[in-house]
Amino acid sequence: MGSGGREHALAWKLAQSSLLAGGGTLYAAPGNPGISQHATCVGLDVTDHGATIAFCDEQRIGLVVVGPEAPLVDGLADSLRGAGVPVFGPGQAAAQLEGSKGFTKDLCARAGIPTGGYERVSSEDAGLAAVRRFGAPVVIKADGLAAGKGVTVAMDMPTAEAAIREIFAGRFGPVDANGAGAEAVVEEFLDGEEASFFALTDGATIVPFASAQDHKRVGDGDTGPNTGGMGAYSPARVLTPALQAECMTRIIAPTVKTLSDEGMPYSGVLFLGVMLTATGPKLIEYNCRFGDPECQVMLMRLESDLGELLLACAENRLSAIQPPRFSDQTALTVVMAGAGYPGEPKKGGRIDGMAAAEATGAKVFHAGTRTGADGALLAHGGRVLNVTALGRSVSEAQAAAYAAVDRLAAPDLFCRRDIGWREVARERG
Ligand code: AMP
Ligand code: GLY
Repeated sequence: MGSGGREHALAWKLAQSSLLAGGGTLYAAPGNPGISQHATCVGLDVTDHGATIAFCDEQRIGLVVVGPEAPLVDGLADSLRGAGVPVFGPGQAAAQLEGSKGFTKDLCARAGIPTGGYERVSSEDAGLAAVRRFGAPVVIKADGLAAGKGVTVAMDMPTAEAAIREIFAGRFGPVDANGAGAEAVVEEFLDGEEASFFALTDGATIVPFASAQDHKRVGDGDTGPNTGGMGAYSPARVLTPALQAECMTRIIAPTVKTLSDEGMPYSGVLFLGVMLTATGPKLIEYNCRFGDPECQVMLMRLESDLGELLLACAENRLSAIQPPRFSDQTALTVVMAGAGYPGEPKKGGRIDGMAAAEATGAKVFHAGTRTGADGALLAHGGRVLNVTALGRSVSEAQAAAYAAVDRLAAPDLFCRRDIGWREVARERG
């Protein structure tokens, strides 16, 4: 389920699964032109749980893989499981890890998980008092899903106070005349390098999946506004084996155990955003899905059968299968976005040179495309393409990805030219 670059990568990899070897069919709802090379795309309103269950029954679906967070936070996995359909992805209660910042911070407090100090506030006055107590720099987060726009890292008090006022004026959800209805978390600013770490779990067994590093800002050198992610690479060597082990034992394992103990078992992929601080790794946030574009680079390296891994999660038998195996190559992806992104992107521009780009050995995932009347490929989203390549180092993967980017003719798209810069600088010593 889904229509972005993450789902293209999932479909591409699932299409190679032994689960389909006996004549099975891979469907995508709604999919995109890239996904349609690997799957049968169907129009299905996944907010209509009854219609989704009916489709799964009719097609005798053996596994549903939910790409984005919204259907999970909306309880689609519970509805499907209730109807006997195996699903990769957490139920509504466990998906609060992404759906509510306050839920996650409270869970960290109960389980002793390292994260920044925080205060939950439910009025503007309480919020302003909290940011004054913390002092700048301080981080302000709207409580619910905000499509990546609900977080302000405030380096000074006026910015912090403005962020609080915006939340309680209803920017991220309806509020009444007194500003009630909104919730925010005021959080200690954590200093360090940020990385992403992914683990698969069925609620009992947890297996590390892979690490990656995203580039959230729109401009080179990490400048400009935040986006959904302008590029990524995997593995992120800054997450050393020792740090990964620490993330597993101090953050992920107690999270999964606490959720299970409290009757909200987590099943699916747990996406940890972690800050590597001077006093050790600290949780920044959880997501209840694969990262986009982190998924694309991790799946480029995955050597195991993705379908078997995800089905084992869905069927609570992760302990019985081989853990995922990865190539030791580095994968790097460059996001090509529509002019104007992360604001209103220009849509409808022609994209040529896809075959030439892939002839370099790169893989170009479709993130936001459509096919025009004359069969031409057209830009149709903020993030449009993910140009993804492998190399023996980040520097090599970066050079390969940009060589493919340069074969594309898409005048309305732009990309960052420095994806992987931190690691490239380290490699050059
Ligand atoms: P989130 O949506 O929670 O990932 O926040 C978006 C971005 O804000 C993160 O990727 C970090 O770069 C930054 N951020 C979030 N929380 C903190 C924090 N406590 N300290 C410093 N930066 C943070
Ligand atoms: N690339 C960040 C995310 O998927 O949340």
